[in-house]
Amino acid sequence: MIEKGTKIAEARGKLGVLLVGMGAVTTTFVAGVEAVRRGLASPIGSLTQMGAIRLGKRTEGRSPLIKDFVPLASLDDLVFGAWDIFEENAYDAALNAGVLEKELLLQIRPQMSRLRPMRAVFDQKYVKRLHGEHVKEGRTKMDLAEQLIRDIAEFKRKHRCTRLVMIWCASTEIFIKPHAVHRTIHRFERAMQENHPAIAPSMIYAYAAIRSGVSFANGAPNLTLDVPALTTLAEQQGVPICGKDFKTGQTLMKTILAPGLKARLLGLHGWYSTNILGNRDGEVLDDPGSFKTKEESKLSVLEYILQPSVYPDLYGDFTHLVRINYYPPRGDNKEGWDNIDIFGWLGYPMQIKIDFLCRDSILAAPIVLDLVLFLDLAARAGMRGIQEWLSFYFKSPMCAPELYPEHDLFIQLMKLKNTLRHMRGEELITHLGLEYYD
Ligand SMILES: NC(=O)c1ccc[n+]([C@@H]2O[C@H](COP(=O)([O-])OP(=O)(O)OC[C@H]3O[C@@H](n4cnc5c(N)ncnc54)[C@H](O)[C@@H]3O)[C@@H](O)[C@H]2O)c1
Repeated sequence: MIEKGTKIAEARGKLGVLLVGMGAVTTTFVAGVEAVRRGLASPIGSLTQMGAIRLGKRTEGRSPLIKDFVPLASLDDLVFGAWDIFEENAYDAALNAGVLEKELLLQIRPQMSRLRPMRAVFDQKYVKRLHGEHVKEGRTKMDLAEQLIRDIAEFKRKHRCTRLVMIWCASTEIFIKPHAVHRTIHRFERAMQENHPAIAPSMIYAYAAIRSGVSFANGAPNLTLDVPALTTLAEQQGVPICGKDFKTGQTLMKTILAPGLKARLLGLHGWYSTNILGNRDGEVLDDPGSFKTKEESKLSVLEYILQPSVYPDLYGDFTHLVRINYYPPRGDNKEGWDNIDIFGWLGYPMQIKIDFLCRDSILAAPIVLDLVLFLDLAARAGMRGIQEWLSFYFKSPMCAPELYPEHDLFIQLMKLKNTLRHMRGEELITHLGLEYYD
């Protein structure tokens, strides 16, 4: 644990942002940063850019912006790199993703066109619906990791970066259970040499990042670095890591609403969630293997928030179903329906319906930005291993093996802000408030 008021190195020089996958989320994020830098748009939804933090007592009136309170990298200092299985540049990829208006993209076309993906580490066994040619070849998974390590070093040198962060924004891989080869770094490395099937491409990227001293966040629900071998390696190497699966759309709504129902002790009979989406992510999730990974991530949320073992009468027996249907006409503009069957005083039933017409990548892009800047801050503050204070951004937050994850969005935000206060030597805010009445 870092000490209260720990020394944080300044954010001097360029921060390299390495993005695995250059699809809808990545291009919406990069284009957004380019647009904000030029004053063409606002970074709405980003805590690091627009959020404030209260310090001290309510009577003190101190609420600076987070970016003025902790030393974050400036947007002007970010440089982007990416890997993808398709060769097209970020401008063309953004046009294909169909999230942002062409009018906006045209204004940042030169910057976007310059971003060309490096060859990916990819294996169709792990993402059945995709087939790409722009991939690395290697005799073993370890060979492939060494190639990524060289890509990282070359990128750092070429762009004269002082620090790097890597974010997995690539497709969701098939469901993989934790395996004995994930237990120690020695077994993990041997499994890479032997091309063991329990080592997925996302794990090879995570391994390469950590070995290179690069912080890593996993935006998809894949197991990736949520295994003892890699969390231990991250601690040993002094690298901050976090994951899994960006909390956007339907799950964001769930983690806003469920704590409210629990706070008022309203019971739950069932929660049925269904989605239609038509982007490439939707196409990948149409495969049962990738869907299973996503489903596990989406389902865990309610169990943890509602605590059926503590409140058996209210939450001991509810049905929770999640469906995702690939429906091309919708593109990135997903529609998520929720039907929630609740019960109140004397067991009387009620229903809540939510129809969220959201834009997946518009919700994900500010999360990517915040993770880049906070992971870089954590590294400069000497924080290592799993960064539970960044749970706020994830559907399946990583945490220490002896803990259960915290899913309640409001507790997650308090944890995040208290971590920032702790880093800067400020008093934590408990919301006790009795002192105002003494
Ligand atoms: N709101 C959101 O958009 C949201 C929320 C939570 C999680 N996610 C996850 O984020 C990821 C990205 O979402 P998206 O909408 O940008 O998807 P996308 O399909 O538009 O982009 C993913 C990109 O990754 C590339 N890719 C696949 N495997 C790769 C590999 N091994 N190496 C390099 N590139 C690879 C694909 O070619 C594709 O271009 C998905 O896993 C998705 O489930 C997205």
